Amino acid sequence: MRKLIPSFRIQILILVLFLMVNAVLFFRNYFLDNLTSFNAGIDALEIESKIAQLHKTYASQLPSDQQAAFREDVEALLETEHQVRLARELFRKDIELYSYFIFIFLTAAALGLFFLSFNLISRPLKRLQEAAGELARGNWTIQVRENRFSPLNDLIVSFNQMVTELEESRRKLVQVEKEMAWRDMARVMAHEIKNPLTPIRLSLDRLEAKVHAGSDQIQEVLEAVVRVIREEVTNLQTLAGEFSQFARLPEAQLRPLKLGPFLEDILQPYRECGVTLALEPGPDAIMGDRVQLKQVVVNLVQNALQASGESPEIQVGVTSGKEEIVLWVSDRGKGIEPDQLEKIFEPYYTRREKGTGLGLAIVKRIVENHGGTIHVTSQTGKGTRFELRFPTTDMSAEGKAP
Ligand SMILES: Nc1ncnc2c1ncn2[C@@H]1O[C@H](COP(=O)(O)OP(=O)(O)O)[C@@H](O)[C@H]1O
Ligand SMILES: [Mg+2]
Repeated sequence: MRKLIPSFRIQILILVLFLMVNAVLFFRNYFLDNLTSFNAGIDALEIESKIAQLHKTYASQLPSDQQAAFREDVEALLETEHQVRLARELFRKDIELYSYFIFIFLTAAALGLFFLSFNLISRPLKRLQEAAGELARGNWTIQVRENRFSPLNDLIVSFNQMVTELEESRRKLVQVEKEMAWRDMARVMAHEIKNPLTPIRLSLDRLEAKVHAGSDQIQEVLEAVVRVIREEVTNLQTLAGEFSQFARLPEAQLRPLKLGPFLEDILQPYRECGVTLALEPGPDAIMGDRVQLKQVVVNLVQNALQASGESPEIQVGVTSGKEEIVLWVSDRGKGIEPDQLEKIFEPYYTRREKGTGLGLAIVKRIVENHGGTIHVTSQTGKGTRFELRFPTTDMSAEGKAP
C-alpha cells in the first residue's frame, strides 16, 4: 500500500511539471487568441472578394485606356493581400516556435529550481529521518550534517543538540543505575553475610569460655558449635551460589524437553511437603535447558512453600495450547498485595527475613532466555499462581531428548 504513494521527490516533481505545463498553455493560448482575433478582423474585411467585386463593377465603366492601369492596380492589391496572408502564416509559425522555446526554458528553470529546493529541503529532511531511525536503534552519537543555506538548518542544529544532551543524560542515568545496583548488592550482601556471622561468633565465644573454665561439657558444646557453624556455612554457600548465579547466568543449552517426565523427576522430593503434579494429556515438549528449568521450578515451589502455612497445598501443572505450553505453579498461601506484584521480579526485592530477592529475578531471566514469558496472579489471603509460557516445539526429536 505504501508503494502506491509516490515519494516526496516525485510529488514535488509532478507539482512543478503541472505548474509548468499550465504556464506554457497559458502563454500559448494568449498569443494564439490574439492571432485569431487579428485574423478575424482581417477576414471580416474580405479584402479579396471586395477587390474582385470592385474590379467587376468598375472595370467595364472605365474608358478602355484606363482599364489596363486599373487592372494592374487591382492585381497589385491582390498581391499585397496575398503577402498579408503569408505574413500571418509566418507569424503563427513564429508563435509556435516561441512557445516551444518558452516550454524548454521553463522546463530547464523548473528542473533547476526543483533540484535546488530538493537539496535544501528534502535532503536535510531525509537525513533527519535517517538519523531519527539510527537514534531509535540505539546509536546515541548520531549527528546530522548542517547546511547553512537550508531553511531546515535550525531544525538540524536543534536535533544535533538534542542528541548530544540525550546521550549525556543517558550516560548519567546508566552511571546512576550502575551505582545503585552496586549499592543494593553491597547492602544485601553485607546484610546476608552479617546474619550467619553473629551465631558463629557467639558459639565460638561460648566454646572459648568453656575451654577456659575447664568445663566438663566441652564435648557437648563443641558438637553444638560445630552444628551451628556448619549450618551457617551452608547458608552462606547457598547465598554465594545465588549471587554468583545472578551475576553470571550461563547461556541456556536448549534441547527438546518433555515437561511431564521432567517435572515428575524434580518434584519427587517435594511430594511429602504437599506438592502435587497436575498433568494433562497432550503435547508438553519445549526447547529447554534442564539445569536452568529445574532451578526455575525449585525456586517457584520454594517460594510457594515459604508463603504457605503449616499444611501447604501446592500444585504444579502443564497445560498445552496450540502455539505455547503453560507451566504453572499455584499455592494457597498468603498471596501478594496488588501493589507488590510488579516489584517481585526486581532483583533484591524481598519480604522475607532471610530472603535475597534474587529468586524470581533469576527465574524471569531464565524464562526470557527460553523465549518465554512469566505472569503472576494473586489474591491476598487466598493464594498465588505463576504461569510460564513457552513456545512449543515439534517433538520429532523426542527420542533424542536427554
Ligand atoms: N508464591 C508466593 N506467594 C507469596 N509471595 C511470594 C510468592 N513468591 C514470591 N513471593 C514474594 O516475592 C518476593 C521475592 O521472591 P524471590 O525473588 O524469590 O526472593 P526471596 O525468596 O529471596 O524473597 C518474596 O519475598 C515474597 O514476598
Ligand atoms: Mg525465593
